[in-house]
Amino acid sequence: MAIISSQQPDANRPRRQAPAAATAAASDNPLLQAERAPEEAGKPEESLRPRRLADYVGQKDLKEVLAIAIQAAQARNETLDHLLLYGPPGLGKTTMSLILAQEMGVDCKITSAPALERPRDIVGLLVNLKPGDVLFIDEIHRLSRMSEEILYPAMEDYRLDITIGKGQSARTRSIPLQRFTLVGATTRVGALTSPLRDRFGLVQRLRFYELDELTQIVLRTAEILTTPITQDGAEEVGRRSRGTPRIANRLLRRVRDFVEVKAPGQAIDRAIAATALELFNVDPAGLDWTDRRMLTVMIENYGGGPVGLETIAAATGEDAQTIEEVYEPYLMQIGYLNRTPRGRVAAPAAWKHLGYTPPESQLSLMS
Ligand SMILES: Nc1ncnc2c1ncn2[C@@H]1O[C@H](COP(=O)(O)OP(=O)(O)O)[C@@H](O)[C@H]1O
Ligand SMILES: [Mg+2]
Repeated sequence: MAIISSQQPDANRPRRQAPAAATAAASDNPLLQAERAPEEAGKPEESLRPRRLADYVGQKDLKEVLAIAIQAAQARNETLDHLLLYGPPGLGKTTMSLILAQEMGVDCKITSAPALERPRDIVGLLVNLKPGDVLFIDEIHRLSRMSEEILYPAMEDYRLDITIGKGQSARTRSIPLQRFTLVGATTRVGALTSPLRDRFGLVQRLRFYELDELTQIVLRTAEILTTPITQDGAEEVGRRSRGTPRIANRLLRRVRDFVEVKAPGQAIDRAIAATALELFNVDPAGLDWTDRRMLTVMIENYGGGPVGLETIAAATGEDAQTIEEVYEPYLMQIGYLNRTPRGRVAAPAAWKHLGYTPPESQLSLMS
């Protein structure tokens, strides 16, 4: 039970309504940070977001599940079930939340758990929701205990339980809320408490994107940016995007800068994309300096592993959580890294990619 002052919370303070880009997952990863640099924050990312389910590339299973949920909710004239989206950053969680609201014809209020530190912050948001609205909470695994407890009855019964006063004179009051849909997003589904996770009717994972999907996203973004690009050029950018639309869009902007300076008027083709991305230190597999450093240290200093996460973090200067949530998922996806109980192991494919010969013992593990 939360203790909250009876004072009417002011939910309309501008910083609670910050755009998605400003409240996105806090991470030190330069790949993602660029998205929030002043000149790139807000508008460019917003203008690239698909607005309708039909324009949302890939994630076939997710779209199918949500299309059914939307249709059923609309037929019954109900709100959508609460939805938990999880997966690495940049795969389209915020975008999907905005699309859901659009498809349901309601508003989407965007916030993130670190902005809901005090109970009155979340109470303010909840009491101001209009019927059917979507409330998007990013990084929901970081909610404070008190805010989380306010959410339980809000999610379950559309009701706030508020304690007014202290000690003997404390009274509990229930305030009814409008029906709403909570969309939670997280990169760490395992870090959610089970009472919170259990209150979501739909729990969906976002996958890394396939090359043809990334190519499609790059072509679409190039069109919005009015940048000429060939199919091959888009594919080359897609191939180096770590399966991640946000990175695909970011790399395309870098290549666009490059071509405008070095070969004005020319369409981005495979060779231009490759040369530009090489210059920006993105290799043909999409690995950047940190990925290569991680794997190189594992191979050169530890015979490929197992190596502890903290050791890898120290060797790269990244914090352990960023390594775990941003770098490792993709390296595991492409089969370059394995997590074992004793630590991380560089897979033979990583040895080969970096120009090393994998030891016999590793190769036999593979077959
Ligand atoms: N399925 C998709 N189709 C097209 N573009 C996408 C898709 N998913 C994400 N994007 C692009 O990637 C960017 C990052 O997506 P976002 O929803 O902010 O990711 P997340 O919230 O998971 O970190 C968006 O600006 C959007 O342009
Ligand atoms: Mg997001």
